[in-house]
Amino acid sequence: MDAQDVKSNLVLILDFGSQYTHLITRRIRALNVFSLCINGTSPLKSITDLNPSVIILSGGPHSVHAPNAPCFPPGFIDYVESNGIHVLGICYGLQLIVQQMGGVVRVGEKQEYGRMEIEVGIAEGLFGNKKVGDRQNVWMSHGDEAVKLPEGFEVVARSKQGAVAAVQNQRKRFYGLQYHPEVTHSQPEGMETLKYFLFDLCGITAGWTMEDVLDEELKVIKSTVAPEDHVICALSGGVDSTVAATLVHKAIGDRLHCVFVDNGLLRWRERERVLETFEKDLHLPVTCIDAVDQFLSKLKGVTEPEKKRKIIGNEFINIFDAFAHDLEKKLGRKPAYLVQGTLYPDVIESCPPPGSGRTHSHTIKSHHNVGGLPKDMKLKLIEPLKLLFKDEVRELGKIMGVPQGFLKRHPFPGPGLAVRVPGDVTLENRLDILRKADEIFIQSIKDAGIYDSIWQAFAVFMPVLTVGVQGDQRTHSYAITLRAVTSQDGMTADWYYFDHKFLVDLSTRICNEVPGVNRVLLDITSKPPSTIEWE
Ligand code: XMP
Repeated sequence: MDAQDVKSNLVLILDFGSQYTHLITRRIRALNVFSLCINGTSPLKSITDLNPSVIILSGGPHSVHAPNAPCFPPGFIDYVESNGIHVLGICYGLQLIVQQMGGVVRVGEKQEYGRMEIEVGIAEGLFGNKKVGDRQNVWMSHGDEAVKLPEGFEVVARSKQGAVAAVQNQRKRFYGLQYHPEVTHSQPEGMETLKYFLFDLCGITAGWTMEDVLDEELKVIKSTVAPEDHVICALSGGVDSTVAATLVHKAIGDRLHCVFVDNGLLRWRERERVLETFEKDLHLPVTCIDAVDQFLSKLKGVTEPEKKRKIIGNEFINIFDAFAHDLEKKLGRKPAYLVQGTLYPDVIESCPPPGSGRTHSHTIKSHHNVGGLPKDMKLKLIEPLKLLFKDEVRELGKIMGVPQGFLKRHPFPGPGLAVRVPGDVTLENRLDILRKADEIFIQSIKDAGIYDSIWQAFAVFMPVLTVGVQGDQRTHSYAITLRAVTSQDGMTADWYYFDHKFLVDLSTRICNEVPGVNRVLLDITSKPPSTIEWE
């Protein structure tokens, strides 16, 4: 499918703050249809510029009667009607359609939350693939309900307790589902309805693939970066920066200059491992800067977590700055662009609808990041992954030949092991002890075949001396805590349940093989109340 076809099959989601908005976007992309999401209250021009074929109005936490309840922009209804665009409202989206087109929405007599049975009343339009009387279980989450429909609309399904579950006005191409077809609890029928709506009612053509994304991004980068321009990129060893750099390298070759910093806070043999991947597998031009002493001397005696992060962030900036200036001297011109591995959720969350309760992840990122950019650098940004979700980035990496093992690595925080050694990281040989214990933990998880079922696993150094007995000797040594969690996005997490025997063997190995450790603990807290990292 070429770029023009992709654009003429765009499904645009207007986000009114539902916690499931990203899921709708992802579900549609999983059907090989390109889908984008923007704030539901964006000006009409943001919508018309994208020229969508289909618009989905998401759910949201508001009542349509609330003061400042979010609404699509003025002129929206005329625009979609005059352009023949199909509109599907989900939950709050349905109520918005009903209210804005002349119907009535009220606080429901019986509120509906959780799994509900609905029954098809009209086997046409939205349920043209069903029979009258067909029932299905769906996931509801609403307090308000539509009690009078706008002229020309009909109820196509009701819940068991008689509330409106689906509506349509086929002539105007407006449709609404009071439930969430995208969530797991509404499957398999939820996705069947969504597919029927997109492919049969709206005539959308599937065909958006990662190969298309790759071709399109290569074209964009080649046309953006002038032949004399140079580009820089800080590689962290993580998936996003690696895939972004690989893509840019494919487009402009060795005018890309990458830097990888060893700050002394990396995992066991991390520097060797990532450099091998960058150089041997990906042929990326990387300068490795050994800044171990520079970082550790600044961290000496520092115990306050935020102060540690700040020092690390500032040091990264200083090193990056020096790298860019050296490059400028060498090339005789300033590098013009900086590559960043920004992902789509960060872009969407840079502007979440008010009241959605969703986190403003751009703020989180800058704090989680390597510390921002030197103020005087004035580099333009290249963010080739900014329309992709994490799993899509992995797929893109795969088709560009990034090794599978690398793409599946657990996330690793920018401040590295500093947030896994509470207090002063430089005392004794805390970092070395931690590295050894962590490596045994991770290898054991890999050997047990459970690495991919865990979001993140790592060891934490406990800065307390406890008494033990090893051989005939009394010891006074440190403890290690093991942390492993499952999660979808790192925002919430549950601790991972290990097999008993696995833990027994692991604790024996760590105490036997890591000098300075005589005790192994397991962290059994979820997030919240804890965070994933210890600092
Ligand atoms: P927390 O500890 O906040 O971690 O529950 C959530 C996710 O974010 C990662 N994390 C960071 N990543 N710089 C980063 O790049 C940071 O400062 C940072 N702090 C936490 C953490 O590893 C987990 O995946």
